[in-house]
Amino acid sequence: MSDLRVAVVPGDGIGVEVIAEAVKALTAVANAAGKAIRMTPFDWGAERYLKSGVTLPPDSAAMLEGAFDAVLLGAMGDPRVPDNRHAADILLGLRFELDLYVNYRPIRLLHERLCPLKGARPEDVDFVVFRENTEGLYVMMGGHFKKGTADEVATEVDLNTRKGVERIVRHAFAFAERSGRGRVVMADKSNVLIHAHELWQRVFNAVAVEYPKIEARHLYVDNLALQLVREPSQFEVIVTSNMFGDIVTDLAAGLQGGLGMAASGNIHPGRLSLFEPVHGSSPPLAGKNVANPMGAILAAGLMLEHLGWTEEGERLESAVRWAVASENTTADIGGSRGTREVGDAIASRLLA
Ligand code: IPM
Ligand code: MN
Repeated sequence: MSDLRVAVVPGDGIGVEVIAEAVKALTAVANAAGKAIRMTPFDWGAERYLKSGVTLPPDSAAMLEGAFDAVLLGAMGDPRVPDNRHAADILLGLRFELDLYVNYRPIRLLHERLCPLKGARPEDVDFVVFRENTEGLYVMMGGHFKKGTADEVATEVDLNTRKGVERIVRHAFAFAERSGRGRVVMADKSNVLIHAHELWQRVFNAVAVEYPKIEARHLYVDNLALQLVREPSQFEVIVTSNMFGDIVTDLAAGLQGGLGMAASGNIHPGRLSLFEPVHGSSPPLAGKNVANPMGAILAAGLMLEHLGWTEEGERLESAVRWAVASENTTADIGGSRGTREVGDAIASRLLA
């Protein structure tokens, strides 16, 4: 098998620290398998933006698509850029320009100690959220009227297209079928968003007919939030819109031990895709060797699986599972190790 070519964008804050550990783990798992991953760093982020005024260099998307198999990204956000414009330009820019319409967020509890729910076992928290990733409330269409006056008006458009809704819904059903999961839940707010989310209803029902063996269930998103906390074991695959998916996956991350444990893929099936931990740049934790690198290492694992290195991807997840069980963990999940020490432990486990 040929070498993998990965563009590595550490970004800002703790992104830099956790990506260093993910790179260590990727190197270890590749070495152990006698394979190679060529990783090329990119300095996109606040520092570069402040120096040069450039957020995402022009033609980045095309350049990445031509030269790499995947992108591994840390986090974007820096207090020196108050509106975090660079973060939106870079992360959302790549999602839009590379048309990464699937935001894949597997929620797996690696150890019962990590779950805040009483009595929850790893088998109770094991589902996947597919969040639409290219439209909805994220398209930044809207405007101000009479800005700065007492009569100020501000709008934000929730943009939903037939094509956009259908492709993410289809992806969820196809994934459920392929992975042997029997249930798909679609969450919307069609009782209030009677136009945009009525489209979700219609598309979901139409696609569900094509998958008679899969149980298709609809929940309003507020009810989904309740059910996720009350009984997460009822979920296998969840599909929802961009903004609802953003919120629901933070809640779901809470079930698996917090944002430090959550990984995601921004995917366009068959094309260049981007993998990242779900957490942000966390400026107060940056540079202190305290950030949890597991989300980033798990994201690297999702990337390998996506690229067909299934065994190596699984090895990354089991090494993280081992680190949790053996208490090689950072303080956010109850341990006393630093970012680097956790990364070192995982890398040596992978080489053992
Ligand atoms: C996420 C993040 C991003 C989002 C932010 C950083 C723009 O919260 O990936 O979940 O809202 O999508
Ligand atoms: Mn989020």
